[in-house]
Amino acid sequence: MWVAKLFALTALIGFFTWMNAASPRADFDKLPGGAAQEESVESALRQARRLADELLEKVRGLLTAELEKGGYEGAVRVCSEIAQEIPREIEARTGVSIRRVSLRYRNPKDIPDEYERRKLEEFEQQHRARALADESFEVVREDGRRYLRYMRPILVGPMCITCHGPKEAIPSSVRAILAEKYPEDRATGYRSGDVRGAVSVKIPLSPEN
Ligand code: HEC
Repeated sequence: MWVAKLFALTALIGFFTWMNAASPRADFDKLPGGAAQEESVESALRQARRLADELLEKVRGLLTAELEKGGYEGAVRVCSEIAQEIPREIEARTGVSIRRVSLRYRNPKDIPDEYERRKLEEFEQQHRARALADESFEVVREDGRRYLRYMRPILVGPMCITCHGPKEAIPSSVRAILAEKYPEDRATGYRSGDVRGAVSVKIPLSPEN
């Protein structure tokens, strides 16, 4: 009799141990198991976060420096010339694709792909529900390869309004440059606190065994 009880107990403990091991960490619940894979996902995630920081800091630094130098007109010109170069430089150095995207883009190069559009819409919904996430990441399969896709929302602050706010808040000289450089500009009419867009990073992962 005690043998049967002992057996049942062992089976039960075994079952719970298995449950524990089989349930992945919440952050990685979209991933198949495998410690080695998780390691590469984690290091990709660390890299994605680092590169998103770098991009945002460099763009912000550029903007602030230009505003201090000569006001908004100069800043718009420089921003339009250099904003695309910063992510290109990071890509050339690291081999990771990184860019800024927006549902209401200024530069058509920042039009989101299908995945990015879906995430941007999610960010909008979360924002309306006052529950905006700091970031989103997921392992996806595209064209037979696995990628880590990482996105971080970018919010509108008071200093953005001169170039992204309601038309009447944008000085006419700035409006003129925007009209000349971005005839299809959709990136106005924002208010402080709105989701302006996101940084999007896409890192190829090592193939599954
Ligand atoms: C001096 C004017 C100016 C200010 C101030 C400014 N931006 Fe922009 N912003 C631009 C221009 C010009 C572009 C287009 C850059 C390009 O061609 O890649 C742009 C593009 C962007 C993009 C890329 C998506 C898109 O629409 O093409 C994001 C995101 C963005 N701005 C966020 C911000 C945020 C957040 C702030 C405030 C912290 C800000 N901007 C302040 C001029 C400005």
